[in-house]
Amino acid sequence: MNPLQPLSAPEFIQKKRDEIELSADEISQFVQAASKGEIPDYQITAFLMATYFTGMTFDETANLTKSMVESGERYDLSKVKGAKVDKHSTGGIGDKVSIILGPLAAACGLKVPMMAGRGLGHTGGTIDKLEAIPGYRAVLSKEEFVQILNDIGCAIISQSEHIAPADRKFYALRDVTATIECIPLITSSILSKKIAEGTNGLVMDIKVGSGAFMKRKTEAMQLAKTLRAVAKKSGVELRATLSNMDQPLGYAVGNALEIYECIEVLKNEKLNPYGLSSVDLKELTIHLCAQMLEAGKVVKNLSEGRKLAISRLQDGSAWTKFKQMIQAQGGDAESLEEPWRYMKSAKVVEIRSTKKGYVTEMNPEGIGRLLIQLGGGRNQVGAPIEHEVGFFFHKKLGSQVKAGDTLVTVFGNAKTNFENVERLLKSYLKISTSKKAAPKLILEANVR
Ligand code: URA
Repeated sequence: MNPLQPLSAPEFIQKKRDEIELSADEISQFVQAASKGEIPDYQITAFLMATYFTGMTFDETANLTKSMVESGERYDLSKVKGAKVDKHSTGGIGDKVSIILGPLAAACGLKVPMMAGRGLGHTGGTIDKLEAIPGYRAVLSKEEFVQILNDIGCAIISQSEHIAPADRKFYALRDVTATIECIPLITSSILSKKIAEGTNGLVMDIKVGSGAFMKRKTEAMQLAKTLRAVAKKSGVELRATLSNMDQPLGYAVGNALEIYECIEVLKNEKLNPYGLSSVDLKELTIHLCAQMLEAGKVVKNLSEGRKLAISRLQDGSAWTKFKQMIQAQGGDAESLEEPWRYMKSAKVVEIRSTKKGYVTEMNPEGIGRLLIQLGGGRNQVGAPIEHEVGFFFHKKLGSQVKAGDTLVTVFGNAKTNFENVERLLKSYLKISTSKKAAPKLILEANVR
């Protein structure tokens, strides 16, 4: 390509459409122009859709990631003392791990500079969940971020307009144009933020299953390997776990309700009046914490990491870190001591089974879309969220069900059409007469 004569946007899109490899310069020029608002959304979307269908070579993916990092500023975390390791998930339903894991890993001695996202497609976002806490500020200045990391050890922030603005633009367009499930686009989206945020290490939780963007293990393995290779090129130490997403993680789905479940796990006390369990959520959090501690060289191996993580959950230090972090980010820490506030809702309805048998199938994608329909997520860029709506699942895959048992508690509001919600939820939980075991939670504990 002649650097004096950049490709026009239509020529750039055409090359991608026709599977002709784009050069580093061509990608860089397109990304810079797109992030400055010089390319209209319809041309950016045409490029995203062409990439969705034709994919990218490894070099194109690495160059796209680099250009997206260069579209904004990079944080210099050299003033933060100690190993800095972040975690990111590719997105799921009821996935509230980051909210527990950030403070837990900090309580174990790591620095956790966590830059998290909002909802994407049918999946929820950590920032939307944290914003259910009154006063919580997800946007911090660079100086505040560094200060909180030094004082407390963890901060969970959203991407500011200065960090990877190209990803902000692409992410918002992908969310509403069916261009999410694409390995080069997911890789560049995640890693551009993480490289710009200045972390030394990253643990990826790659979700696999009907509620995930990667429906099959082979695709998820390919994503893990692409992420590892691109991260390595940028000097970020990346570990990856593959975990199941054929059902919601934990029992709560919905922003404020998920904060309630996080408080319960962090406090290490049974709070919910229904006796619901968070075994899977705890197990995955402890495993990912062990991986972070090993990547940051706080421990020698995963089993040492697990022991440390369990002890920091049990001795209350993760809970203390969580409250400190929330307070430092402007949140009402007192409200966390009264967790029932997070499950107060205008109207609470129990959905009961008319059948007996076992839960053999769930539809987490449908559950995620239903939450959006109730106002708990977005259908349009920038739309407000109703934090209080959501569900508590009393039954999960493998559970035995008797006629009359509660399947789901629905937390709605004045606008909720409970009949419709009941009909949909019943169609999302398949009850059969023969038992089927619950799927394995951790499908690959450490992808190499
Ligand atoms: N998380 C991200 O930040 N980007 C994606 O594309 C998917 C999950």
